[in-house]
Amino acid sequence: MAEAAYKHLNPPQRILLGPGPSNVHPRVQMAMLAPMVGHLDPYFVTIMEDTMELLRQVFRTKNKLTFPISGTGSAGMEASFCNFLEPGDTAIIGVNGLFGERMAENARRCGAKVIQLTAEWGKIIEPAAIKEALHNEKKVKLLALVHAETSTGVLQPLAEASRLAREHEALFLVDTVTSLGGHEVAVDDWGIDICYSGTQKCLSCPPGLAPLTVNEKALATLPKRTHQMASWYFDLSLLVGYWSSSRFYHHTAPISMVFALHEALALISDEGLEARTARHLKHGAALQAGLEAMGLTLHAEKNYRLSTLTTVRIPSGVDDLRVRQALLNKWNIEIGGGLGPLKGQIWRIGLMGYGSTAENVLLVLTALEKQLAEEGYKLTPGAGVAAASEVLRK
Ligand SMILES: Cc1ncc(COP(=O)(O)O)c(C=O)c1O
Repeated sequence: MAEAAYKHLNPPQRILLGPGPSNVHPRVQMAMLAPMVGHLDPYFVTIMEDTMELLRQVFRTKNKLTFPISGTGSAGMEASFCNFLEPGDTAIIGVNGLFGERMAENARRCGAKVIQLTAEWGKIIEPAAIKEALHNEKKVKLLALVHAETSTGVLQPLAEASRLAREHEALFLVDTVTSLGGHEVAVDDWGIDICYSGTQKCLSCPPGLAPLTVNEKALATLPKRTHQMASWYFDLSLLVGYWSSSRFYHHTAPISMVFALHEALALISDEGLEARTARHLKHGAALQAGLEAMGLTLHAEKNYRLSTLTTVRIPSGVDDLRVRQALLNKWNIEIGGGLGPLKGQIWRIGLMGYGSTAENVLLVLTALEKQLAEEGYKLTPGAGVAAASEVLRK
């Protein structure tokens, strides 16, 4: 018999503790096996409505325009920029990591004048710098910040930035790809006008959708555009036709992904947002205590560390790739390496959604201790796990 040209699909069951995707809850996986229905089927329409409502709860908003953009987190980013920026506009963008850089690139491609507020990768964008930049420009259309910078592990404070944006009548746009469903996000209370996320991090859903929410203030700017938007796919004025009672066909919704997101959001609703945030905080703190007890140095600025994604410096003499490969091959654990200027400098360890558990904290510390010891790194055996356990017991 001729050998089959292709192998049957048989992916390994990894423990995903990197920057995403994270492991998917079995109920979410089951949702993806549900039968296909039409994108205007009455059943699907009820799921669309529920998904919008559940997203409003997670974003903590009353915004009518709250739905998932088809595409990954970058699609949410692109949709946010291309609808609200056009040639002639000025945008101020916080750039303290790779995703801030990507936002600035998006803004430039919309033809806007871009003021980049830069900070070292690992530090926050200081409110004073935002204040000065807003003050220096005559008219700013939009201020954009990354809430959780996945390339550095930094949690950006938003309160003062939001106040300043409002004071200068600029729209406030926030990327919550690595915070939504893990850290507290409160779109309405925090005065965020445009906010997008991704499904594959703390929502514990496969990659493929980008939840988006936009308030009336931002929507009111759309009819005032003087240039037609170049993107047809991300044109919100067309997309709302499908994600509203008119149900105008725009593009075929990715049905199975919407089922998956619905289930992931229902799980969050069952757990409760506060309990979920507290779970992420506790496990992030335990991991960070464990890493420090192993003599390692955390990369992100103290007091501004994500609990969903921890960045830790690779000690000198330790081989980045060899450790990550050993974690994958011997322990079945994926963690992330550094990006851009942090390549070879840091590891990125994610505890997101379904993966944010005490077991994963202890497992990754145990595995890391073993692999670091094999690299010749000196540590006190068991110190990491002991310090983490102490936090977990509290
Ligand atoms: C903060 C942030 N923004 C945007 C993105 C882009 O999302 P995606 O890779 O799903 O397109 C990511 C992905 O890791 C991210 O971490």
